[in-house]
Amino acid sequence: MSIKSYVMARVIDQFHHPRGMYGRVAGRIMATRDTNVARNHWIAEIIGPPAGVSILEIGHGPGLAIEALLPSLDGGHITGLEISDLMSRSAAKRNKDAVERGDVDFRVGDSANPPPELTGYDIIYAVNASMFWPEPLVAITELASRLSTGGEMVFVYMPPPTSTDSAQAVAAETAEHFAAAGLTNIGHDEMSFDPIAIATRGTRPS
Ligand SMILES: C[S@@+](CC[C@H](N)C(=O)[O-])C[C@H]1O[C@@H](n2cnc3c(N)ncnc32)[C@H](O)[C@@H]1O
Repeated sequence: MSIKSYVMARVIDQFHHPRGMYGRVAGRIMATRDTNVARNHWIAEIIGPPAGVSILEIGHGPGLAIEALLPSLDGGHITGLEISDLMSRSAAKRNKDAVERGDVDFRVGDSANPPPELTGYDIIYAVNASMFWPEPLVAITELASRLSTGGEMVFVYMPPPTSTDSAQAVAAETAEHFAAAGLTNIGHDEMSFDPIAIATRGTRPS
C-alpha cells in the first residue's frame, strides 16, 4: 500500500468518530467538501424553522448545518449532540458567537443514549450520521421519544464517495425505522445534486 493510500484509509476510517490527527483531517474535509457544504445548507432550507423552536442535531460534525440555521433561528435554540469531542469543540468554535449569546449549546454523547434533559424538541435532525450507529432503530426510537408531540424528525443521507449504498435504499430503510419508532406522516424530499441527497421526515403523533 502506498503512503497516500494508507493516509486516505486512516482518514476515511475517522468519519464515524473523528479523533486525533487523522480526525482533524476528516473534520476539515467535512467542513470544506462541496457536497458536504451543499447538503448541510439544504437541510437548513428544508427545515426552515418557525420562530422560537427548539432543535436538536445529532452528529453535527464541524457544525455547518447549525451555522446555516442561525439566521432563521429567531428566538429558538439549537443543541448539538456529538459522539466526537473533537467535532463538538470544532462546531463550538465555528458557532462561537451563537454559543456566547446562548442560542446554541454543544454536548458530547451518543445518539442511542442522549442525556435525559435533552427532550421536548420541535425538530430533531441528522445529516449523514445514522449510517454509523450500530443499532439505528434503538437510537431512532429513543430520539423519537425526545420530540414534543407534533415535533418532526428529519434525517438526510447523501452517499459519500466511498459508499456503495444508494440514497434511495438508505432513505427507504430510514423510513422503516421511523415507522417502527411510532412516527407518522413519513415522507421524503430530494435535493438534485451529484450525488442526490434524500431527506426522510416523520412526525411524532399527538
Ligand atoms: C460523516 S460525519 C457527518 C457530519 C455532519 N453531519 C456533516 O454532514 O458534515 C458523521 C458524524 O456523526 C458523528 N456520530 C457518529 N456516531 C454517532 C453517535 N452514535 N452519536 C452521535 N454522533 C455520532 C460522528 O462523530 C461524525 O461527526
